[in-house]
Amino acid sequence: MKRRTLLSSAATAAVAVPLLAACGPDQAPPAPAATTAPAAPLGLTFPAGFVWGAATSAYQIEGAAAVDGRGPSIWDTFSHQSGTIVDGSNGDVACDHYHRFAEDIQIMKDLGIQSYRFSISWPRILPTGRGQVNQKGLDFYKALIDGLHQAGIEPLATLFHWDLPQPLQDAGGWENRDCASWFADYAAIAFQHLGAQVPTWLTINEPKTIVQVGYTYGSMAPGKRDARAAAVASHHLALAHGLAVAAYRASGATGKIGPALNLAPAYPAESGADAAATLADGVENRLYLDPILRGSYPDDAPTFLGAGPWAALSGVIRDGDLAIIGAPIDVLGVNYYNPVFISKSGGYVTLKPTSIATWEQIWPDGFTDILGRLTRDYTKVPLVVTENGIPNAGSVKPIDGVVDDPERIDYLRDHLAAAYSAIQNGANLKGYHVWSLLDNFEWAQGYTQRWGIVHVDFDTQQRTPKASAHWYRDVIARNGA
Ligand code: GCO
Repeated sequence: MKRRTLLSSAATAAVAVPLLAACGPDQAPPAPAATTAPAAPLGLTFPAGFVWGAATSAYQIEGAAAVDGRGPSIWDTFSHQSGTIVDGSNGDVACDHYHRFAEDIQIMKDLGIQSYRFSISWPRILPTGRGQVNQKGLDFYKALIDGLHQAGIEPLATLFHWDLPQPLQDAGGWENRDCASWFADYAAIAFQHLGAQVPTWLTINEPKTIVQVGYTYGSMAPGKRDARAAAVASHHLALAHGLAVAAYRASGATGKIGPALNLAPAYPAESGADAAATLADGVENRLYLDPILRGSYPDDAPTFLGAGPWAALSGVIRDGDLAIIGAPIDVLGVNYYNPVFISKSGGYVTLKPTSIATWEQIWPDGFTDILGRLTRDYTKVPLVVTENGIPNAGSVKPIDGVVDDPERIDYLRDHLAAAYSAIQNGANLKGYHVWSLLDNFEWAQGYTQRWGIVHVDFDTQQRTPKASAHWYRDVIARNGA
């Protein structure tokens, strides 16, 4: 399944349909690049104080789906429907992190990890999404955060990584403007109880994936296929971000807050494709960056979204919304996995090697470009890479206690070199989080893709740091790739 590519193609409704037909979404990806000796350091020393981290999200690792009062989320519903997840799995148990977080903190401590990006499960804190607070849910996150501090690891908390409480979906979900206020109320509760211990917060993770994959293509929860509903959800997600930032300021907290956006630089795949690439840049990046960092939607949004979706989106904008959405942030989280290459007719073309996640074209130069562009064209706030990584196949197992993953070491080393170049060229990049700490439930791919630097045996829950984890420990120790 080509999650992001497929989705992106469709989302560019005005440009994409002919494209899809022209390029064939299922064309075979090019062969992977040859790997090079994994361990050789490149001799790149990052600026003093650069923060090295690892990332996860609640539904992907916690398990304990019906434990201690947690309510159901749209991902519980979606993953339990037949035909939604390639291996028929779900996140009921996942990595059982809810019960094993102390062990996971110890693993991070042993690796020297300095910052842990995790997400808070909204339905663990508010089992029906609003109203009654579940103390046991708060207690879990308090214990996790305390454990991180004791281990000398900085918590980086994401408020929303896709696990919307099911009762809120039943009340319209992100198509309902009220959802933005429900989110801000939940955020205020999180700030009240956990704010003093969490120096940096991320509001919404990857609104683009929710809009494109959850609402346009339907291959992720909530499984809708409606470009207008997607466009409406896009505005309400942006509003939710803005209202959460306002709630953070009102809480009196003195830390940092910002969104985590997955960005994909768009390039022409052939001569004459510049205009099509610019439209794809709107779909991939500017639709999410411009409201938050410029307080406006891009002028060409009616073209790149298509007239119908744009009418739906612009129809739900109310006076004052863009001032809320565009209020200053303190940090910008960047998830980077791939560039996109666009043909003259607007189609998405695979030009670079992919990982086994065939939407993921491996091209570190795109990372340098997007980081540099953010500081140059959008914002002077610190940038933090909140995700970057590559999967192994689900069948990979330790052999004599060793998981050899040279392709991940190559990928990470090359992307760190690209990030280093971006810093040299002026990008205000302050930290990096590998996706992911642990092998986990990879959404519609279930357990068939292992994205962790730490292997998890899902039968025994045994954790085994992979070769890439040992390599990353050395990167952290020398502050460089
Ligand atoms: C995302 C999410 C992660 C994924 C990761 C690999 O980017 O989709 O933030 O939860 O697991 O990106 O696909």
